[in-house]
Amino acid sequence: MKDKVIIITGAGSGIGRATALLAGSAGAKVIVSDVNQEGGKATADEITQNGGTATFIHCNVADKQEVKDLFAQTLGLYERLDYLVNNAGVGGEFNPTHLYSDETYEKVVAVNQNGVFYCLKESLRILHEQEQGGSIVNVSSVAGIGGAPRMSAYAASKHAVIGLTKTAAQEYGKYNIRVNAVCPTVIETPMTAGLLEGDPKMVEGTKYLIPMRRFGQPEEVAKTIMWLCSDESSFINGQELRVDGGMKA
Ligand SMILES: NC(=O)c1ccc[n+]([C@@H]2O[C@H](COP(=O)([O-])OP(=O)(O)OC[C@H]3O[C@@H](n4cnc5c(N)ncnc54)[C@H](O)[C@@H]3O)[C@@H](O)[C@H]2O)c1
Repeated sequence: MKDKVIIITGAGSGIGRATALLAGSAGAKVIVSDVNQEGGKATADEITQNGGTATFIHCNVADKQEVKDLFAQTLGLYERLDYLVNNAGVGGEFNPTHLYSDETYEKVVAVNQNGVFYCLKESLRILHEQEQGGSIVNVSSVAGIGGAPRMSAYAASKHAVIGLTKTAAQEYGKYNIRVNAVCPTVIETPMTAGLLEGDPKMVEGTKYLIPMRRFGQPEEVAKTIMWLCSDESSFINGQELRVDGGMKA
């Protein structure tokens, strides 16, 4: 990781934040990106205060031009890129498909699917031109490998992330550019906090579906992401790696 340049989207909170902190402590040059300025800056500040190197760059991944600017600014700073963690995502609403609003569906797909595509495309262009390989990790979900009742937009967008991952892995493997996905189950982050708070029955019911009988911590996903970025996983390509305590085994 030392001196490697890594972009992490949605790094102002949860899994992205934990991944950024880990990358920073491993000596990487971390581009902390988020649409949320306050959260993103706080992550970058924490890395710097711990002696690491980090820069916050504002980016809404659903906006093509902002994504282009994110990658251009990164090249402006470091003249190279090694890793991308496509982590930014939103949950959407909870409704059966016939009641699911078009607006939310389009918003979820814009961030979780189109945003991943825009960032993937920019990073692959750069890594391909550099001719030195690289690694990309896309954050999907267990909702990307199976149904997710009342979350049709989320499930659709996370399945799309797996499709993009596998396709890019097969297209760019010959250039030593690896593309993998992680598929977490429920992880205790701000995204799930609102969902689970005040509903102990739902918490217990969901935990029962997980053989390890607990939810995951953002650091557990972050460690998996860092491993997939690093050369420690040098022959792993095109995977949809579950981080789910055995839920989908
Ligand atoms: N927490 C879980 O249980 C869980 C499970 C499986 C997958 N995931 C996925 O992990 C990723 C991170 O989720 P989290 O739980 O850490 O959530 P989180 O809400 O804590 O963090 C998500 C971050 O993404 C940012 N973001 C949202 N929309 C954005 C946009 N358009 N452009 C840039 N940044 C944007 C938010 O500002 C926030 O900082 C998401 O892709 C999510 O779908 C989460």
